[in-house]
Amino acid sequence: FGKEVVYEETVSSTQQIAHRLANEGASEGTIVVAEEQVSGKGRLSRSWHSPKFTGIWMSIILRPIIPIDKAPQLTLLAAVAVVQAIEEVTDTLPQIKWPNDILINGKKVTGILTEMQAESDGIHSVIIGIGINVNTKQDDFPDDLKEKATSIQIEQGKSISRAKLIQVLLLRLEKIYDLYLEKGFSPIKQLWEGYAVTIGRDIIATTLTGTITGRALGITEEGVLLLEDNKGEVHKIYSADISLA
Ligand code: BTN
Repeated sequence: FGKEVVYEETVSSTQQIAHRLANEGASEGTIVVAEEQVSGKGRLSRSWHSPKFTGIWMSIILRPIIPIDKAPQLTLLAAVAVVQAIEEVTDTLPQIKWPNDILINGKKVTGILTEMQAESDGIHSVIIGIGINVNTKQDDFPDDLKEKATSIQIEQGKSISRAKLIQVLLLRLEKIYDLYLEKGFSPIKQLWEGYAVTIGRDIIATTLTGTITGRALGITEEGVLLLEDNKGEVHKIYSADISLA
């Protein structure tokens, strides 16, 4: 990964550029990275705060030959790689909150956004967007994020090299992607569950259709969250915001 790198100072969103490049035939592993995004995209149509020089704002183009319904697995795979990379270059212990938020000391340090372009004959490309708050200071976050968001620098008390983190992250991503292509999702699922903060705990899942409270049992082979409510009924959660009950 990262043999082809598109580096920009200011962009609207690296996702947008990666989609365009993917349509123009960019090869697998191409990355787009920017110092600043003026309209960074988050999950569920939210925005992603991406101030200049403080974080890693990056999108990766993948072209996996897998069925469309397996694409969510790639998000979980990316989350594992990010956790491994942060663990390797910092003294912090990151954890994953389903599906793909990475937390340090309970606050969000990284978000991952996976977008797919598919045609009737299968996946055309998958764009994985990763936003890591690296050297962001508490004051850089807007008020509504201050409670929930953090950065590696805040949690560790010192800044780290973004270049080093990207380098380690790309190696980790490539390694875990190769493992996935060779051995399938099982080894990734196991790694993911080892880092997951939500599994085995009582949680509240807020979906588009309502709220479900219950115990998070684990994830399925597709990366779907299994939630057992207090009547013992097990729900499959495809998309939701999760908080601890
Ligand atoms: C989330 O909502 O948690 C996902 C946030 C994803 C942010 C990254 S930053 C790089 C890439 N470009 C974007 O516009 N978004 C993703």
